[in-house]
Amino acid sequence: MGRVFVAGSINMDVVATADRHPRIGETIAGQQVLYFPGGKGANQAVSAAKLGAPTTLIGRLGQDAFGRELKAFLATQEIDLSFVQETSGAQTGTAIITIAKADNTIVVIPGANALVGVTDVAAPLLAKGDIAVSQFEIPLPTISAFFKRARAVGATTILNPAPAIEFDAEMLDLVDILILNESELGLLSKTELRDTDDHTRFIEAARSLRGGKDKIVCVTLGKRGVVALVDGKPLIISGLAVEAVDTTGAGDCFVGAVAAQLATGNPISDALNYANVAASICVQRMGAAPSMPTISEVETAISTRRPGARR
Ligand code: RIB
Ligand code: NA
Repeated sequence: MGRVFVAGSINMDVVATADRHPRIGETIAGQQVLYFPGGKGANQAVSAAKLGAPTTLIGRLGQDAFGRELKAFLATQEIDLSFVQETSGAQTGTAIITIAKADNTIVVIPGANALVGVTDVAAPLLAKGDIAVSQFEIPLPTISAFFKRARAVGATTILNPAPAIEFDAEMLDLVDILILNESELGLLSKTELRDTDDHTRFIEAARSLRGGKDKIVCVTLGKRGVVALVDGKPLIISGLAVEAVDTTGAGDCFVGAVAAQLATGNPISDALNYANVAASICVQRMGAAPSMPTISEVETAISTRRPGARR
């Protein structure tokens, strides 16, 4: 079995819940302030580890109360933390999140995550069969260096280009599997995809990111499921009808689940189906990292939805 290495952000999510999102200039009363471990890197590592993959997280925390709390939480998640450094001179990454009717808005203050550097990703020993995962909450040169090392040993690279920012096409050449949501796909492919339900439009946009290689492009559409290009062929996975309370981290749950499945040697189509079910569990609970499902929860959901299915 391969190991999952996640190079990415670790944030404290400071969540305000309200009936609706405030308009600009407006003040509204909310219900609660909640603190959840989050950050795309940490969330994806927690997801992979809970779904059974040996997992290493590479990242940075500040020397402050949030950093200590996050470290204590991560230590309970069976993640190898030997490459999570505490760094002076920067605060622990913090995400200010407003949740209303299960939809969120997020402002991320990177803090220590901005200091995750090329040397941080130079130390962990990757091998063939391992899975290297990253996202856009740490500096891009760090991600490139990480993926180059992974590629050099025959590990598989997964990029979740979130939050969406413009980046060099060169980065895409280092990616085996690209997992993104529709707004990220719209930005990167320069296509207007809002309000479309037309799968062929997603597939066309995904195709434009393949770069003529055997890259797998996977578009997560939330409750509308997943559209992917595997071996250049479209693969469509239906959404699952669940009652969402908080979608924060659902994409991260998906990415971690795909990584864990591939690390165990399962084929990509199975991995995407499994991840789709995992994410549907994640959205039914509050919080990012603490809402990642266990293997048995995913298996139960699969067997109740698809009687007689293999897992
Ligand atoms: O993807 C969700 C995550 O994005 C949150 O946990 C928050 O920390 C932001 O990084
Ligand atoms: Na959740």
